[in-house]
Amino acid sequence: MKVIKYLANLGYGTRREVTGMVYHRRVTRSDGSTVRDGDAFVHDELLVDGIPLDPARGAVVMLHKPVGYVCSTKDASQLVYQLLPTRFPYRTPVMAPIGRLDRDTSGLLLITDDGQLNHRLSSPRAHLPKVYEARLASDLRGDEPEFFASGTVMLDSETTPLLPATLEALDARTARVTITEGRYHQVRRMFAAAGNRVEALHRRAVGGLELDGLESGQWRVLSAADLSRLFSELP
Ligand code: URA
Repeated sequence: MKVIKYLANLGYGTRREVTGMVYHRRVTRSDGSTVRDGDAFVHDELLVDGIPLDPARGAVVMLHKPVGYVCSTKDASQLVYQLLPTRFPYRTPVMAPIGRLDRDTSGLLLITDDGQLNHRLSSPRAHLPKVYEARLASDLRGDEPEFFASGTVMLDSETTPLLPATLEALDARTARVTITEGRYHQVRRMFAAAGNRVEALHRRAVGGLELDGLESGQWRVLSAADLSRLFSELP
């Protein structure tokens, strides 16, 4: 692909705008040479205005989502895209979350422009384990692990029961829950079905991948080793 189309697809501007950037020599290689349309280039060596490019097409990004941000491109409130390179929503294909976290949920959120991968991981048939920690309004009763593992839990307004999930009590009002589906507000609704209420919810792992010290509001591109951790728990 020629550099103008390549940069336009990464959201650096319309083709016309990127043509102007190339013409004005704002697109260079790391050795300082100017890139013209039609020249060979390597993603990792390209700079725009002296700044390395955003992650390449096909990248998977992990964001430590803070509470208060919404997984959407259009909303009146704060968007997760405000924590990421400004060009992400304008890319072709767009960088989109793999599944969603509620506004009030913090933790590990994956984002990619690889539609096939997104579908593979977020499809209801994927059964990718997701690990949450929930702080509850009331003490655990003690029967929740059995209830969640039963495969019979019905959420309000749904027609099929939830797949078995695991619950480990961390203290009287904190639990670690692992689910393999991604239904709307699933964890909060599971605790509602158990007669409790979630006060705070945090996703600490997806597949075998954890946030691993990534600070709230920060993101990074997944390495090949991260990706194999992510897939290591796919059935
Ligand atoms: N379950 C919820 O209730 N909220 C989330 O954001 C994720 C899982």
